[in-house]
Order: sequence, then C-alpha cells, then structure tokens
Amino acid sequence: MKTTISHIKADIGSLPGHSSVYEPVVQEVGKFIREHGSGILTDHFISHVGDDIQITMIHNRGVDNPEIHELAWNAFIAGTALAKKVGLYGAGQDLLKDSFSGNIKGMGPGVAEMEINARKSEPFIIYMMDKTEPGAFNFPIFKMFADPYNTPGLVIDPNMHDGFKFEIWDIIEGKKIYLDTPEHMYDIMGMIGSKSRYVVKRVFTKENHEKLPDENVSVITTDKLSFIAGEYVGKDDPAGIVRIQSGLPAAGESLEAFSHPYLVSGWMRGSFNGPLMPVGMKDSKMTRFDGPPRVVALGFVLKDGKLTGPVDMFDDPAFDGARKTAVEIVDYLRRMGPFEPHRLPEDEMEYTSLPRVLEKLKSQFQHIDMEPAKKKLKVSTKDFD
Ligand code: F6R
Ligand code: MG
Ligand code: MG
Repeated sequence: MKTTISHIKADIGSLPGHSSVYEPVVQEVGKFIREHGSGILTDHFISHVGDDIQITMIHNRGVDNPEIHELAWNAFIAGTALAKKVGLYGAGQDLLKDSFSGNIKGMGPGVAEMEINARKSEPFIIYMMDKTEPGAFNFPIFKMFADPYNTPGLVIDPNMHDGFKFEIWDIIEGKKIYLDTPEHMYDIMGMIGSKSRYVVKRVFTKENHEKLPDENVSVITTDKLSFIAGEYVGKDDPAGIVRIQSGLPAAGESLEAFSHPYLVSGWMRGSFNGPLMPVGMKDSKMTRFDGPPRVVALGFVLKDGKLTGPVDMFDDPAFDGARKTAVEIVDYLRRMGPFEPHRLPEDEMEYTSLPRVLEKLKSQFQHIDMEPAKKKLKVSTKDFD
C-alpha cells in the first residue's frame, strides 16, 4: 500500500511581532490533530519555524484528500481561537477564507504532499523556511539533485548517474513543465534562476532508477498568498520534503546545499533580499530586521506509517561557518537601507504596501519630453556589424 506524507503549514499568529510562534498555540494545534486525526492518520508531527506552525501528517489517503486537508484547516482554526484570545500578532493571518471548501490549496496555508512506495527504511528531511518565498527552494533543490559538486553521488552512485526529472511551475502563467537532468540542465537553470516566477514543485526519479523507478522524491509548497488575495496578506514562507539515501542524495548531500547562505527574497515586509541562514530549532526565531531568513531541517525515518525522529539537522557546529557568513552578509546588506538590490526590484514590490505610498504622488508628476532619450535607445546589434 502506498503511503502519503502531507506537510501543511500556516502562520496563525506570533509574538511579539512576526518573530516566533507561541508554544500554547502550537500545543493547541497538536491537541486538535491528536484528538481528531486518530482515525485517519497513522502518525503526525507538529513543529515550527519562526512564526509558522508546521503539521506533518502520515496516512494512506493520497494527496489532495479532503479529510486530511480539513483536519489541518480545523487544527489551524482551533489554534487561531487561542491566538486571538491572548492577542497574538496577526492571529489567523494565513487563513484567507472563511470556511473550508474541500481543498486547503488556495486558502492560505502552504501544502507539500507526496504519495510514495515507502522503502524498508524511508529516510527523509523536512526543510522549513521563514521570511522567504517558494522560489527559495530552487537553488538548494537543484544543487541536491543536479549539481555533482554538491552531490558526488550523481557521479559515483550508478543509481543516481542517470539524473532526475524536475517538475517546474510558472506561477505567473499557471503552467508546468517536466525536464530531465542532466540533459536539460541549462534549460532548467535558465528558468529557475528567475525564482519569483519559476519554482521547482517536485523532483522524480527516472523510470530506469533501479531501486525506486518513477517516484516522487521531493515536493515543495508553492502557494503564493499575495496571488490568492491580490495584496500582501499572510506569508508564503515555504517548506519542502526531500527523500534521501540509497540512490537519492545522502542526508549530508541534501544538507550541504544549505552550506552557502545564498540570497533569497521575502525578508522584512516581504520586501528585502537577504541570506538564508541554516539554524537548529533553538535559533528558529526571527529577530534581526525580522530575520534574517532561516531554514530548519528535521530528519525522520518512516516505517509502517510511523515516524521515528526527528533529528534537528542544522543544530551542528559544522554549520557555524554558514551562519557566520550569513551574519556578515546581513551587516553588509543592511547598510543599503531601502535601496535595491537589498530591497526587492520594483516589479516584485507590486504586492507590498509601497504602491499605496507612491499612489499619493501620482498627481504631482509633470510631463517631461523623453523623445531624445527614446531615440538614443533605438540601437540594434546590427548597428555594430
Ligand atoms: C512578516 C514579515 C514582517 C512584517 C513586518 C511588518 O512575515 O515579514 O517583516 O512584514 O514586521 O509587519 P506589519 O505590517 O504587520 O506591522
Ligand atoms: Mg507572521
Ligand atoms: Mg512566517
């Protein structure tokens, strides 16, 4: 029988600003899942990063199952009641709809689900990020599954040597494409370098993988709350599941993709670029400039529908260097204040509160004759032939 891992997350209120979850609310969500999920889940785990509560559920009902989604939705509703009672900031902020309507997708919470043929030992890592966006997974997922400098298994392990299949979503046009590595590596990079538009949704093994043919081995939440609501409400801080070992990236190859604190967007007011800092659970609260963006990694094994673990994978001095570099990048970037490229480029500010500020100036603008400048720009490469 196939097993489903459903990871659903939401920010339903934090304190004192958008820094951290409130433990009693996390417990309230957990209590709801325990009490109402016993008949449909084989196991679950509740965790958090920054201001986001994360529910990992194991069951046999496949992806997009209405009961599973409703269970998570109602658990967040139960947590929100307490969040409102104690006055948590932004209580219920990611629950964008009034009532559940069959599928939690498009209602605010982030969803990453995969239906798998569980191996005799099924190790996997859940990565949870705060103060960033789904495209933040593009760089590390590519490194794990397609970059031999990060993952020598792609060179050494015969089961990985043929590469993987990437499912990439264009979240602006609402389209998806499947492309294989290593054959289409450069095409993939041409897209996913534009991380606010193209996002890696899933990775699959190829059909000739000896141990695990045609299997979903990674999935990422790609929900963009601003697209759902049309404005900057809630946060699409992403999470992802990565299966590891035995013909897949080793745990260490998967984690290694986060050893370089690459730049992601979504920090402070969803409007700034900053380094993604890998941290252990004890450091998963957002303080400096509401961040910096962080990622936590929880490692599990799954057997007969039951989870064992997790291990807090970035709680390791071997990642101190990455954290130190991240802080150095923070110091460097912060001195730029509200200027690009620390602040996001103009087109990505569309869903923030900045357009409302600039709207007020609209009537004060005076016309200038741009004709000479336009003419000057009409240069084609032919002019240089
Ligand atoms: C939220 C976030 C924060 C807030 C900021 C302002 O995830 O990234 O940086 O955007 O604290 O919050 P408001 O507008 O609620 O005062
Ligand atoms: Mg928040
Ligand atoms: Mg958050």
